[in-house]
Amino acid sequence: MRAIQAKPIRFPRNFVWGVATAAPQIEGAACEDGKGESTWDRFCRVPGKVLHGDTLDVACDHYHRYAEDCAMMGRLGIKNYRFSIAWPRIHPQGDSALNQKGLDFYQRLLDALEQNGITPWVTMFHWDLPQALEDRGGWRWRGTVDAFARYADTIVRAFGPRVKHWFTLNEIQCFTSMSYREVSRPPGLALGEAVVNQTYHHALLCHGHGVRAVREQGGRGARVGLIDNSFVPIPVTDCPADVAAAREVFVEANIRVLDPIYRGEYSPVYQRIVGADGPQVAPGDFALIGLPTDFLGLNIYFGHFVRAGADGRPERLALPAAYPHTDCAWLKLTPQSLYWGPRLAAEVYAAKSIYISENGCGYSDEPVVDGECRDLHRRDYLRTYLGELHRAIGDGAPIHGYFVWSLLDNFEWQDGYTSRFGICHVDFATLRRTPKLSADWYANVIRENRLV
Ligand code: FCB
Repeated sequence: MRAIQAKPIRFPRNFVWGVATAAPQIEGAACEDGKGESTWDRFCRVPGKVLHGDTLDVACDHYHRYAEDCAMMGRLGIKNYRFSIAWPRIHPQGDSALNQKGLDFYQRLLDALEQNGITPWVTMFHWDLPQALEDRGGWRWRGTVDAFARYADTIVRAFGPRVKHWFTLNEIQCFTSMSYREVSRPPGLALGEAVVNQTYHHALLCHGHGVRAVREQGGRGARVGLIDNSFVPIPVTDCPADVAAAREVFVEANIRVLDPIYRGEYSPVYQRIVGADGPQVAPGDFALIGLPTDFLGLNIYFGHFVRAGADGRPERLALPAAYPHTDCAWLKLTPQSLYWGPRLAAEVYAAKSIYISENGCGYSDEPVVDGECRDLHRRDYLRTYLGELHRAIGDGAPIHGYFVWSLLDNFEWQDGYTSRFGICHVDFATLRRTPKLSADWYANVIRENRLV
């Protein structure tokens, strides 16, 4: 019998392979060493907001176990680690006193990464707003922008000599419209469109300050960009009409964030959508918001099917209830999203460098049996999605790296600890870590720089 030669699915040289986490989801030590309260610390305590009343108090206890976690990454051969800095650890009240012990923790973490040959990729803000700022209006209040500017200056000055890759904000939508229109995220208010648009505007200004801080204080070779959870349309077929429909939906659905950042203005389409509820803009705002960035981070888990409707207008297709999904109902298995997301971002905004800053899958029950966690479903998910990412690179999309969400099972926001996204299992009773089968598989992909 003649053996069939499979064509290797190789990634470009110097492709960045990594894993991602965020401070509030893993650190714990919520009240330790001078850390201030965050909006999520407060929100957890509101009955009914987080499944089983889970809190961030201990989480994965990474604050005390960071050395063990870095060593585990080292053993797996992971060379790039995206993590976030907890703003309330640095400025516990948001804008006043500096907490030296907070800075010291991240210096220790950077030491441990260095010892294990791991490059840090730092997110300035991953949703843990100091509660003291929320008490003064949070994202509704322009004072939060000034506070963020100071915070960004502080951390870039402190860590700039050691950190060369910065992400400003993670997923603006998740702390603006999901927090001040929908009630699922802190502070959980149901306010009007004008307020929500203002919160977006303030977030965009903070992104601008993040870029400014890196340019002013980041030192040689420092690079910076935003992370967006862009809405990803998937054309039902590759015919030009469906692809054009997908492009139109991409522009409209992402108009609040990508348009102002890449074009330095609110476009006529945006003005038409928001009408009289548009935000108040001060002179100079767009100079800050539109500061050129070095890359775009895209967090992509799923996409939405789109086609050209009978009238030529784009039509969004709702998925049937039985469409395959992970244990998180929102996470439909749509690997094509990893093809179309970066491709459309590159086409529409001429994004020159794109990193998939998060991609992964959540399941509820992944027991460790005989020392092993056989998450074959996660291995399949990653392999299928990475195949589509590879196809996008082959078609010319400028994708330079990929970060799995997440290193560890962790606090998955409203779902508490039920939804497990880690490639390493965490036993939340003992806090013991066990790399899952998917971690070993991913370690192999990294080592070989190809799908195996
Ligand atoms: C993203 C978040 C991240 C994680 C994943 C599952 O939206 O950025 O913190 O919760 O979803």
